[in-house]
Amino acid sequence: MIVRKKMAEKKSRTKKKECQVAFSPFEVSVEVPSGSNLLDAVKTTNLPLKATCGGKGTCGDCVVRILSGPYHSKPAAALPDHLASQGYALSCQTTVRGNLSVELPQFRELSIQSIVDSKFFRKERDKISGTYELDPAVKKISLQIPPATLDDSFSDLKRIERQLQKKLPGYTMSCEYSVLKKLARAVRKDSGKINVIISLSEGRAVIIDAVPPSEDRGLFSLACDIGTTTVALHLVDLQNGKIAATATSLNQQITCGEDVISRIVYSQKPGRLKKLHELIILTINNLIEKVVTAARISSDEICFGSFSGNTTMTHLFLNLDPRYIREEPYVPTLNQVPAALARDLGLKMHPEARIHCSPAVGSYVGGDITAGLLCTP
Ligand code: FES
Repeated sequence: MIVRKKMAEKKSRTKKKECQVAFSPFEVSVEVPSGSNLLDAVKTTNLPLKATCGGKGTCGDCVVRILSGPYHSKPAAALPDHLASQGYALSCQTTVRGNLSVELPQFRELSIQSIVDSKFFRKERDKISGTYELDPAVKKISLQIPPATLDDSFSDLKRIERQLQKKLPGYTMSCEYSVLKKLARAVRKDSGKINVIISLSEGRAVIIDAVPPSEDRGLFSLACDIGTTTVALHLVDLQNGKIAATATSLNQQITCGEDVISRIVYSQKPGRLKKLHELIILTINNLIEKVVTAARISSDEICFGSFSGNTTMTHLFLNLDPRYIREEPYVPTLNQVPAALARDLGLKMHPEARIHCSPAVGSYVGGDITAGLLCTP
């Protein structure tokens, strides 16, 4: 027993400190113990760094540039001294000693493109922010629910729907199961005052959340352009129509092919469609984390997402096989995408958030074009 305790103490004393390694231009980071090999750290991320010699330090493929942070690199014939003195290092010969910022130089051009886009978005954001008429598909409605009595003993849900009907006449009402589970408390917490979040679509009003005013939060939406190379995302405050934060990054699918055709080809081997889908969800979730941090809100406050991309990107976003987009007669699975839920796609938003994809016209005229036309004066 004593021996075991001593071993545990020794283990905790010798536990290596975790270091954060951030890779640009992909905006991906990992935590690894101090002393880890940098190439091993890259491998845990799925980033596209070649290592032809298998880590012997002879091919030079795994070269990176360390932008900041402590590291130790062994000298290697594949890396000239003048490059080493500028911060270049062979990742297979490099040991992580602390938090590192690492650039994959092969992708630097893409990073420049991304920065240009980012400037463009900052400028455009100020032009369009808050200028459109606000009529979102998800709304917050404040209700006062009369208390139940022996003469009026309808269920909590029925009493909420009755009040809601007065504000939304003609709509068919329903409520998500996840909301039902907290309804009894929510409706009593503030003496019958309650804020309900409603999704409105084609004559149907669905309650996707119910919160007592004392626990009220914001209501936000995402507007996301899923580009083959770059993904851009606005966080929009649905109470005033203003853009609260913007973030852009490379589409991490770029590690599997640079254009739509190479990604369709890549997706045809077992397990790879899933991988492409996971990479775009990961890219978007990283961007959501950024805008949520910038706007100081919780991701649960984002109750709607509008996504646009070319037809192949939309298929991969929804985990649909894009194969027949490439083969004559070039037929997509669908053009009009029915509303999906954030929880089904693994997006870091309110789990009941409605996901809308801009409709495509065909295999090569996608939702990115239709969304662009919608905003064209
Ligand atoms: Fe070849 Fe590092 S993997 S030099």
